[in-house]
Amino acid sequence: MVQPVRIAPSILSADFSKLGAEIEAIEAAGADWIHVDVMDGHFVPNITIGPLVVKALRPHAKKPFDVHLMISPVDPYLDAFAEAGADGLTVHPEAGPHVHRTLQHIRKLGKKAGVVLNPGTPVDALDNLMDLVDLILVMSVNPGFGGQRFIESQLKKIEAARKRIDATGRDIALEVDGGITPQTAKRAIAAGATVLVAGTAVFQGGPSQYAANIQALRG
Ligand code: DX5
Ligand code: ZN
Repeated sequence: MVQPVRIAPSILSADFSKLGAEIEAIEAAGADWIHVDVMDGHFVPNITIGPLVVKALRPHAKKPFDVHLMISPVDPYLDAFAEAGADGLTVHPEAGPHVHRTLQHIRKLGKKAGVVLNPGTPVDALDNLMDLVDLILVMSVNPGFGGQRFIESQLKKIEAARKRIDATGRDIALEVDGGITPQTAKRAIAAGATVLVAGTAVFQGGPSQYAANIQALRG
């Protein structure tokens, strides 16, 4: 089952003084999903945006909002992000006491449920969650900041996650996030990734470069 790779620009690398225009520009440049990094200064050492900002941005694009929640506790905020217009909500197993229940709740909200594995989190964390996920995100950097280097050891984890997905026979997206460049993109795709998150590599050079930057990641 060969699928075209999807590109999900991370707005963490956008110009925050004009996020609406930035989202319009990446959509026009061919972005498949809009990746929104939500950070709380507690689960990760950085603070970004909340549901009010997601709600304000939602009318600026038609493409799905892929919301990556790096907040703990995460459960109290799921409804607010769903109401704000998120299409998918992706959570870290470490961000709450009952990740299974968290995923069930996301499904109940009618949203795509995603689980994300940090570089130090084993692929076995997926063991009892496969029937509840629409997306698996493998972090290829430690979460918190854009512009970090791709951690090579995560390629094996992408391959292992690919095998688990294929064994289900279901169409579960396999997303990779962190340090994606045209070079690492090729390797992540070869390992089985179907969605690539990229901040630095998409936004570098400003709006006139977005289309070429996105195209360069398609492999
Ligand atoms: C890191 C975020 C990433 C980040 C990727 O915590 O989850 O989405 O913005 O940025 P680059 O592509 O610059 O590594
Ligand atoms: Zn992210």
